[in-house]
Amino acid sequence: MPRMFVPGPVDVADEVLQAQTAPMLPHRSKEFETIFRRASEKSQQLFYTKHRVYLTASSGTGLQEAAIRNFVHKKVLCIVNGAFADRWYEVAVYNGKEADELAFEWDTAASPDLIANTVKQGGYEALTIVHNETSTGLQNPVREIAEAVRAAAPDTLIFVDAVSSLGGAKIEMDAWGIDMLLTSSQKCLALPPGLALGAVSDRAMKKAESVENRGWYFDLVRMEKHRNKDSSPATPAMSLIYALDFQLDRIFAEGLDNRFARHSAMAKRVQEWADAHDLSMYAPEGYRSQTVTTIKNDRGISISDLNTFLKQREMRIANGYGKLKDKTFRIAHMGETQMEDIERLLEAMEEFLKN
Ligand SMILES: Cc1ncc(COP(=O)(O)O)c(C=O)c1O
Repeated sequence: MPRMFVPGPVDVADEVLQAQTAPMLPHRSKEFETIFRRASEKSQQLFYTKHRVYLTASSGTGLQEAAIRNFVHKKVLCIVNGAFADRWYEVAVYNGKEADELAFEWDTAASPDLIANTVKQGGYEALTIVHNETSTGLQNPVREIAEAVRAAAPDTLIFVDAVSSLGGAKIEMDAWGIDMLLTSSQKCLALPPGLALGAVSDRAMKKAESVENRGWYFDLVRMEKHRNKDSSPATPAMSLIYALDFQLDRIFAEGLDNRFARHSAMAKRVQEWADAHDLSMYAPEGYRSQTVTTIKNDRGISISDLNTFLKQREMRIANGYGKLKDKTFRIAHMGETQMEDIERLLEAMEEFLKN
């Protein structure tokens, strides 16, 4: 029974936690390499890709950095309409790249036309965008953006952060023409934190060979050589890979489309509940996340009192992120969360609001 309606780390099913307790193996043994390959190949289905999927012992931010270090010589465009998009911009700056920010208001979806016009003029090697802004509950129209960018500047690589949506919303890497798509274990995949997954296109891989200063730990050219031998340059997060291997079977048993529909039904239910209680949504209609809903605190609720009340019932929600703290609050509906859990939460929130 989920207790944490927060957008990660989320609750992990007992049997998935249990899967981590399998005995350790030498990581360069056939036994472990078989599990490593299987987990990576199964992950391709989540990404809707035939391209390679790396499993790294890091959180998602590590792969944000890998995208910048491996595939950009010099100039990158960062689309920023939320806190995690802003982080990716910072990652680019801190790695010494010439990063331009194309900013939108946080409650506004990134515009495919504006992005296309910008890449047409700028000679950008790549652009970064967050699919599902966990800070705002806004889902950017990545498919339309990728299509517009491909038409306007076909050589610009497209990097997408789907940390809080991959496995919870359909993102078709190959069909949409994405060059790097990344996520973390602790959100929609409902695993403990510590593992990141990233899929990379062939053309991005090819480019990496000519990029200098790729670093060591996240040098994907080095990682690719090892991946071809079902291995990784450094010691992998073995327990998490056991859990991933097991959890992917559970996810496919539910069916990806069923999973996406479950999340979207919960999102709709939360939005309707908010509407009925004079609370409005932060993200505009048509661009609302399926996995986390950010609600404006129109009624001046004390989020900390609300959470104290919920915790007595073994539940908790998330306050607004960063500058949106107390001005908004967030209800996550990802991973293992079921509609009956959402009903239980909304019932408790209703009780709190009445008192
Ligand atoms: C959209 C998004 N991107 C990136 C991150 C950073 O991921 P991690 O904490 O796994 O490094 C988060 C974390 O919440 C996120 O929600």
